[in-house]
Amino acid sequence: MYLTPDEEKLFNGERGATYQKAMEILAALGDIYDADRLIPIKSAQIAGVSYKTIGDAGLEWLSDLKGKVAVPSILNPAGMDRECWREMGISESFAEKQEKIIQAYEALGVRTECSCTPYNIFNNLAAFGDHVAWSESSAISYANSVIGARTNREGGPSALTAALIGKTANYGFHLDENRIPHVLIQVEAELHDSDYGALGYIVGEMVGDKVPFFELKSKPSKDELKSLGAAMAASGAVALYHVAGATPEAGKYEAPKEKITIEEAQIKAVYSSGEPDLIAFGCPHSSVSELERLAQLLKGKKVKKEVWVCTSRAIKNKHPELIRKIEKSGAKVFCDTCMVVSPASERFGCMMVNSGKAHKYVPNLCGARSIMATTEECVEAAVR
Ligand code: F3S
Repeated sequence: MYLTPDEEKLFNGERGATYQKAMEILAALGDIYDADRLIPIKSAQIAGVSYKTIGDAGLEWLSDLKGKVAVPSILNPAGMDRECWREMGISESFAEKQEKIIQAYEALGVRTECSCTPYNIFNNLAAFGDHVAWSESSAISYANSVIGARTNREGGPSALTAALIGKTANYGFHLDENRIPHVLIQVEAELHDSDYGALGYIVGEMVGDKVPFFELKSKPSKDELKSLGAAMAASGAVALYHVAGATPEAGKYEAPKEKITIEEAQIKAVYSSGEPDLIAFGCPHSSVSELERLAQLLKGKKVKKEVWVCTSRAIKNKHPELIRKIEKSGAKVFCDTCMVVSPASERFGCMMVNSGKAHKYVPNLCGARSIMATTEECVEAAVR
């Protein structure tokens, strides 16, 4: 891969060990994937924040880094709500290590809003056609598919190195030829709300890392696209999809020849019922309109079970009245974290979710049984 004279200097260690290591990682990725050069990025979204997932080894690695990120960079959810961690049942020792991780990122100039929906907080991180380096799978899918920006499936370390250099290697989804859809998904059902997560749950398993092209009977909202992409990224490895009439690049392509038809019964089969001990909303982090809908559904009711609603701190701070309405029911609104990356959910045996992504991850990462239900059914189970 070609390096400019300035990039060569970084590679040779002229600005110190951190930038040298960052350039080595970017150059190695470029060589593996046959990139011709590095390209500038507009922003980075960095996963690998929860102490539950990166542990002491990750904290030590981060603490040794010296430098500043070159582009706006934001963190993925951490292992706890930074203000209400006691209420979540997080231990003092976990909280201390978690704060050290966030402080290590902050010292590198990374913003400490911990969210998987950075596009709902800042509108200058990614626009159509921008190259970015994002690393949380649902955020990657949203950036590529709904915004029309371009990112590979970065890991936490590669997103951080891209942030430090302000560039990424030019391969994969940064190139036009890799954004062409491979398989047509024709859906024979009217979809609403969590049905998109259920659809993504099925389709991700079927298509793996291919680029699906959807023909739907209903027009999805941005929140519904968020749920669809998040579920496909979890049950498969889908980083980009197109929806005819709904996503910005879909109009450029013909429907692929390979075709899969999804019937309504397949979507219904993802749902089940049961008695959960935790009901969790907000995977990916709830938007303002999702919170408004929940507030409406919970109006005048009291929850009888533990209920978590995960969102970003920016949204919580900006909409105190909305949060108050939800919390009046007894539900808890948590920020900076989620039901999957926080160890606090491990004390529950059965979690009910309205998210295809959480439904996939809860059994493996939280050791709990998962029940997928519609948003209305989740609320009914909570107040029953
Ligand atoms: Fe976000 Fe956690 Fe779901 S990081 S996408 S809420 S698993």
